[in-house]
Amino acid sequence: MDNSLKKIFSDGLNKLSEVFASDKSKNQSLGIDIGSSAIKVVQLKKKNGKAVLETYGVISLGPYGNMEVGSVTNLSTEVLAQALKDVMKESNVTTKSAVMAIPSLSSLIFNLSLPGNIPESQLPKIIPIEARKYIPVPISEVSLDWLVIPQEESFEGEVKNDTEKKTEVLVVAIHNDTLSKYRDILKKTELQSDSFEMEIFSNIRSSFVHDTLPLLLIDFGASKTKFSIIEEGIVRDSHVVNRGAQDITKNIAQSLGVSFEEAEKLKRLIGIEKSADGKVESIAKLSIDYIFSDVNSIVLAYEKKYNKNIGKVVLVGGGALLKGLLDHAKENFKIEVVFSNPFFKTEAPAFLTPILEVSGPEFSVAVGLALRQLS
Ligand SMILES: Nc1ncnc2c1ncn2[C@@H]1O[C@H](COP(=O)(O)OP(=O)(O)OP(=O)(O)O)[C@@H](O)[C@H]1O
Ligand SMILES: [Mg+2]
Repeated sequence: MDNSLKKIFSDGLNKLSEVFASDKSKNQSLGIDIGSSAIKVVQLKKKNGKAVLETYGVISLGPYGNMEVGSVTNLSTEVLAQALKDVMKESNVTTKSAVMAIPSLSSLIFNLSLPGNIPESQLPKIIPIEARKYIPVPISEVSLDWLVIPQEESFEGEVKNDTEKKTEVLVVAIHNDTLSKYRDILKKTELQSDSFEMEIFSNIRSSFVHDTLPLLLIDFGASKTKFSIIEEGIVRDSHVVNRGAQDITKNIAQSLGVSFEEAEKLKRLIGIEKSADGKVESIAKLSIDYIFSDVNSIVLAYEKKYNKNIGKVVLVGGGALLKGLLDHAKENFKIEVVFSNPFFKTEAPAFLTPILEVSGPEFSVAVGLALRQLS
């Protein structure tokens, strides 16, 4: 059984700096991010070596499952395909050339540290065996992909002799059921696609400029919060906190005895900014601080292990738009904190700039996907 994916890494990560290098690239591309609460699409076009924003759109999934806007859903492929068709129609998407994100929750990502200097040709044999320890399901049920982390970029610091040498490999495993579900959605929407990408890699492509210090990327999704430590464009550590932006809405609804819809409104209106009676603010802050305390302990452990500090924090995901979150994050991390600004990597009419800046965190994955397809 062939476990290898269509090289998730090959034309993705390493091209952060040369966006339009390959000549087999496409002229137009559609990035599709199917989140648990909403689908986001971004269509880009390649023109004079630049990525031009043609259209973008978002549709809430809640109403497709008789739930409120902002709710986390678990919909069938038929319904997801319908929602995708709807948002493509509403946003006047014209291209069929698509690339989809695989959510962090449907995939596993881990580092393997193998003894010795192992030639690349032996990895297809070794990795499936070694990866078993990390994968909670039979290895035949997953597809694997990997990236050897270059020795020069070894994060251990000092130079090692041969016996101490290690081959460090970043491995990605995706359940085959997930892949068939996404292929099914593509088929039902009559889109063409030759690859998928894990959302973290799309986020990296669209959010980062080259940075020497490690970066912390936090994705505030509706269902969960995902965070990763990135160095030189490579994921060094990746975690999920079992709490998302929807939990804030639920807690507001419960504590204040209001409907989910009303709570969602209050959350967006007040967030964790100071308000007259401070109730919404303190409820929302509880969830955020729960998340931050998990992130803090991982960051501390990382900084201690590698003896280097995180240089910057990048916020992505719709939940990052919570009012007051940026300042609160600055206070917590005590370093530079920024919103992802993925549209900055595209050309768009000037009048859209303010709205695109605000929408950036939400569309970070979809923009990254579309950029990959153009590269
Ligand atoms: N202006 C805002 N203020 C506060 N929260 C917001 C705002 N806009 C969106 N959100 C929240 O962001 C969440 C949706 O974010 P996003 O679209 O990134 O989630 P998703 O991709 O569907 O979820 P996941 O990645 O967990 O599957 C919702 O919970 C929504 O309430
Ligand atoms: Mg998401």
